[in-house]
Amino acid sequence: MKIKAAVLYEMGKQRPYDKSNPLRIEEVDLSTPERDEVLVKIHAAGLCHSDLSVIDGNRPRPLPMVLGHEAAGEVMECGPGVTNLKPDDRVIFSYVPSCGHCMPCMTGKPALCEPGGAANAKGTLINGGIRLKNKDLHFLNHHLGVSAFAEYAIVSKHSLIKITQAVPYQIAALFGCAVLTGVGAVVNTAKMVAGQTVLIVGLGGVGLAALLGALSSGAGKVIVADINRQKREKALELGAHVAIDPSEPNAIEKLKEEYTKGGADIALEFAGAVPALEFAFACTKRGGTTVTAGLPHPSKRLEISPVVLVGEERTLKGSYLGSCIPSRDIPAYMSLYQSGRLPVDKLLSQELQFEQINKGLETLAAGETIRQVIKFD
Ligand SMILES: NC(=O)c1ccc[n+]([C@@H]2O[C@H](COP(=O)([O-])OP(=O)(O)OC[C@H]3O[C@@H](n4cnc5c(N)ncnc54)[C@H](O)[C@@H]3O)[C@@H](O)[C@H]2O)c1
Ligand SMILES: [Zn+2]
Ligand SMILES: [Zn+2]
Repeated sequence: MKIKAAVLYEMGKQRPYDKSNPLRIEEVDLSTPERDEVLVKIHAAGLCHSDLSVIDGNRPRPLPMVLGHEAAGEVMECGPGVTNLKPDDRVIFSYVPSCGHCMPCMTGKPALCEPGGAANAKGTLINGGIRLKNKDLHFLNHHLGVSAFAEYAIVSKHSLIKITQAVPYQIAALFGCAVLTGVGAVVNTAKMVAGQTVLIVGLGGVGLAALLGALSSGAGKVIVADINRQKREKALELGAHVAIDPSEPNAIEKLKEEYTKGGADIALEFAGAVPALEFAFACTKRGGTTVTAGLPHPSKRLEISPVVLVGEERTLKGSYLGSCIPSRDIPAYMSLYQSGRLPVDKLLSQELQFEQINKGLETLAAGETIRQVIKFD
């Protein structure tokens, strides 16, 4: 079938993106779902910094590619072998397909699914297939098995989570990345316990979702840090107890002496910048844990003192997909939202038309928004 999709042909185009238009909306061909595949109508797709990182070359991916990985939609048609979904079901996409059979999947770590990770790196579905072609009959790679900047998508059944809750699509989409990654990093990766002091560095969609997660899970005190003043103000509005500018001189000393007793129990980094991670690590207390979910360019390196790591029994952990089990955690976080304890609707800054996608990416790159969602209906 012919559909409209936003295709990236070239990484590293100059900003402003509303002038250079890195994503080209064009008519492309989407084939029919094969075994274990599902045709989904996309209703809403969020703009995440990880999309931007492919566009600016910080997270290189094989091109051409249809981007978009945070989305919600409706099942239209199921290929053979799909027994857990049917037309009209509402679904959220998971940006790591989980085969269910490899060792990480069997041991509760689907973020590390081996065939899922390999397919994501290659730009295919988990079965190796590519279902998108442009008008010159060139294959268009899939982004993280999803490719949601399009009217429809064909994805593996392993990339979909069925939801039963009647949550509007533009809110539901946020659960696919920002909420899963942010809340999961706090409760699954850091394993925060009630009463702990938590520092969150980087207050975009993912960091602010982590803030909401920490508050709803009983953090004693949540300190937030961002170089952008508006982001700090937004975090305070959402319930953060203290906001700091990490670029201010003595910010670390202030946090350790004035705002905490010797540092945060847990520091989480969602900025995608090495200085932010260094700051997070420096702010944790003896015995504390630093969790990083940001994704700087693969060439970047972090320098830390092994003596501090050892002598102070510090922990440094990476968090991908919020260390979540999406089929378990998305419905759970959605129920928390519905009961008012995880008000993630407050992360939605703006709804966009599909044609406004490059402008939206520029707004995100400029740090002027939290989460923008494209509405397709
Ligand atoms: N690990 C995962 O599974 C996963 C999932 C989604 C996104 N990500 C990554 O998480 C990061 C955040 O994503 P997002 O969509 O929320 O991004 P965003 O652009 O909306 O927010 C990033 C925030 O970090 C702040 N920042 C930048 N440099 C900083 C510094 N040195 N100190 C403090 N704050 C700084 C910015 O001002 C901004 O508010 C990105 O790197 C993204 O690629 C990771
Ligand atoms: Zn994302
Ligand atoms: Zn697997």
